[in-house]
Amino acid sequence: MIRLPGLIDPHVHVREPGQTHKEDWDTATQAALAGGVTMILAMPNTKPPIFDASTLDLALDSAKQKARCDYAQFLGAGPDNADTVAALAPKAAGLKMYLDSTFGELRLDDMTLWMPHFQKFPKDYPIVLHAESRTMAAGILFAALYDRPVHIAHVSLKEEILLIKAAKERSIKVTCEVCPHHLFLTAESPSPSGRGDGGEGRLAVRPRLASQQDVDALWENLDVIDCFATDHAPHTLAEKDSENPPPGFPGLETLLPLLLTAVDLGRLTLDDIIQKSVINPRQIFRIPEQPETWVEVDENTTYEIKAAEQFTRCGWTPFEGWKVKGRVRKVVLRGKTAFEDGKILAEQGYGRNVR
Ligand code: NCD
Ligand code: ZN
Repeated sequence: MIRLPGLIDPHVHVREPGQTHKEDWDTATQAALAGGVTMILAMPNTKPPIFDASTLDLALDSAKQKARCDYAQFLGAGPDNADTVAALAPKAAGLKMYLDSTFGELRLDDMTLWMPHFQKFPKDYPIVLHAESRTMAAGILFAALYDRPVHIAHVSLKEEILLIKAAKERSIKVTCEVCPHHLFLTAESPSPSGRGDGGEGRLAVRPRLASQQDVDALWENLDVIDCFATDHAPHTLAEKDSENPPPGFPGLETLLPLLLTAVDLGRLTLDDIIQKSVINPRQIFRIPEQPETWVEVDENTTYEIKAAEQFTRCGWTPFEGWKVKGRVRKVVLRGKTAFEDGKILAEQGYGRNVR
């Protein structure tokens, strides 16, 4: 049995308000605890998006009633809310800016719309960018021009990790995260859906799954990766198997088993997990330490990942049937057992807003 500190997942789509048929603050935080995650940072692309005081209250009210693990909520950058979100910064995890297309309505196309956010959002709170490929290069230029920290979400390409490496070498204030699905799946991975139509099907995700060369580059540059983040983005099976599958995978419950399996294979160390899932996210997002909080893992149990055993509401996983080594046995959160032997013990409302 090994003991780890509670993991922090800086990128979770809780889906509440507005799309609770996919997930809500109750099921998302159950999935977190079952995965050894004791704190989640929630993304703002809900319905409505979280972009001002009243929508922030909407999310935080639900969270306060339902969350079983600790949390903070991101604000979304819109075309005309730079003053509003800057004033709300102390109540939020940070600011999320969508600079490329994905699920939701928060995309900012024009660079003139980025400028007021970079000018006004307090520098002691992070700006997180969804920015792929050349858009990422523009985002890193903004970090340099405005001399402020940016955190790049879900890096997936070789060119991206090499660009971030070069920017760090020049002391530009950039950090980044990588998702397990971009470390363990490629565009050639067999789709777990029965559709076989050559489309993305269930494997639709943004950023898209990449080539083996890209995946190799991420593994070769582990030292450039600051955080592991799931980008837990649940959509129901019916939605994923529809004509227009929305992009996104659930990930909270498979993060730690996949990483522990990589440790078993010698691709990663336990210290890497602690650094990238606890210490670095805590520092980047200025999160207080969670006292008396730990995860007990049975490192020798081998088992098969099964959607049927998960707590997420979405009912599927891209890792169905994968054999993994390392099972979360027990999670203690602020002195209370929150999860043990497959059962959620923390009650709704036990989770605290860390802002
Ligand atoms: C996310 C979602 O469904 O909210 N989808 C995804 O494919 N990652 C949005 C996002 O993070 O881009
Ligand atoms: Zn996301």
